[in-house]
Amino acid sequence: MVNLSTHDLVFISRLLEASVFAARSEAQPVLKRMVSANISSESEIFASPQKFIVREIASRDKKAKPFRVAFIGLTETDPAPPVGFKVADPIEAARMIVPEARKKADFVIALAKVKTEAAIRLAREVAGIDALVASNNQVNDTPFTPPLKIRGTLIAFTPLETRMLGELRIYRDKKDKFSARSRFITLDPGVPEDAEARELAVATERAGTDSRKDARAFLDDWLTRVQVNKRATTGKGQLPGGFVSSTSCAACHAAHYIQWVNTRHYRSMDSVMLKATEFDQSCIACHGSVTEKQGDVPKFAAVECEQCHGPGAEHAANPVKGYGRINDLKPVCSSCHTTKTSPAFDAPAAWMKIRH
Ligand code: HEC
Ligand code: HEC
Ligand code: HEC
Ligand code: HEC
Repeated sequence: MVNLSTHDLVFISRLLEASVFAARSEAQPVLKRMVSANISSESEIFASPQKFIVREIASRDKKAKPFRVAFIGLTETDPAPPVGFKVADPIEAARMIVPEARKKADFVIALAKVKTEAAIRLAREVAGIDALVASNNQVNDTPFTPPLKIRGTLIAFTPLETRMLGELRIYRDKKDKFSARSRFITLDPGVPEDAEARELAVATERAGTDSRKDARAFLDDWLTRVQVNKRATTGKGQLPGGFVSSTSCAACHAAHYIQWVNTRHYRSMDSVMLKATEFDQSCIACHGSVTEKQGDVPKFAAVECEQCHGPGAEHAANPVKGYGRINDLKPVCSSCHTTKTSPAFDAPAAWMKIRH
């Protein structure tokens, strides 16, 4: 079983794309074993992980019922999930899901990527978890916390991952009651290093670093081009097409600028970047503002003032009334807020959210 944490989600959210999830899980069965009771998709683009998975283990005694173990996944809420996902409080989620899992299993194991205090609260406040496997390898956490039992729950921590083998044994007594015991087996120098595994680990690390470097270089390059476009002045501090950019408006409209900076329009490229599609021109058309006829309109890294108010060079040079009046919201907003992107869009109500 693989507990999906918010730390993982940042990297693997794309593997959860709903349209291809079924096919992808056939090719990569580990996806079928991914659990999380408190991460869910809030967009139809992504599939939600299963909240828990029940495994049946056949008994050696053919007549005895198979042993059913439920695995529940829980994660801390920090770091924030990428766009398209939400993370509920792990304790609240456990309260809802544990009773459901209990009905379907003899033994309930929660895999929890949470800090030690949260693991203890889970055991105290949520009845019905038989064993809680909690990771506590945070830097500031104690390096080794021995297993402990709180109310009916055995909490086994996973200290020093890769250097200790953790084992959780489950025993069934004559009355069909279950109990758990955990132990740790340290990997000492007596266990030789596997050269092939070592090579793979080094290569994986290197590939990760390289791809991060590549992405960084692409991003830097793109940002530089945006800046150059902004500075590509024609005449009096003017950009091609009569644009001056939002920072120029800020010189005189500081209050409006600050209000705009606090809207999603200012951060509209974040959604696209988080989806790692920042080089996809089709997204930038609305999230970053670029037209078919490049050079006519500068590239912007946001939904900028002039997207709505129109080119402002003349106004900035001679600031008088009459520029940029928007009498009818609808045509302005609907160029990007289409029935597809914002199905329930109500222009006056939306304006109230971004009013400046
Ligand atoms: C050099 C200062 C300056 C700059 C730069 C500037 N404005 Fe203005 N703007 C003004 C002043 C002053 C007024 C008010 C004019 C009046 O009321 O007579 C104004 C008015 C406006 C109005 C209201 C127009 C009306 O008819 O009531 C809008 C909209 C506006 N500015 C948007 C912008 C945008 C967008 C930018 C950047 C592209 C910008 N301004 C850049 C000074 C500036
Ligand atoms: C026709 C304009 C348009 C295009 C093209 C477009 N978007 Fe959007 N997108 C929007 C609008 C408008 C919203 C805001 C929807 C709302 O809440 O009303 C949005 C919202 C989003 C959100 C959700 C943000 C959130 O936090 O809820 C994501 C993610 C996103 N877009 C990604 C993309 C990606 C990736 C592409 C390119 C493949 C793309 N968009 C192309 C207009 C567009
Ligand atoms: C999403 C579209 C949109 C964006 C982006 C936007 N505005 Fe506006 N702005 C409007 C609308 C709509 C109004 C209200 C109608 C009007 O007064 O024209 C308005 C009104 C204004 C006014 C006049 C307010 C008043 O008191 O009469 C100013 C000045 C202004 N905007 C400046 C800016 C500046 C500066 C930016 C960027 C920092 C900006 N706007 C970004 C849509 C936008
Ligand atoms: C150039 C394209 C564009 C235009 C024009 C535009 N928007 Fe947006 N708007 C977006 C995008 C893209 C997002 C989503 C940003 C994100 O989170 O990625 C968005 C998000 C929003 C949101 C936040 C969604 C929410 O519910 O939190 C509001 C509100 C909004 N727009 C209102 C307006 C209004 C009102 C107008 C017209 C005055 C307008 N927009 C015009 C592209 C645009």
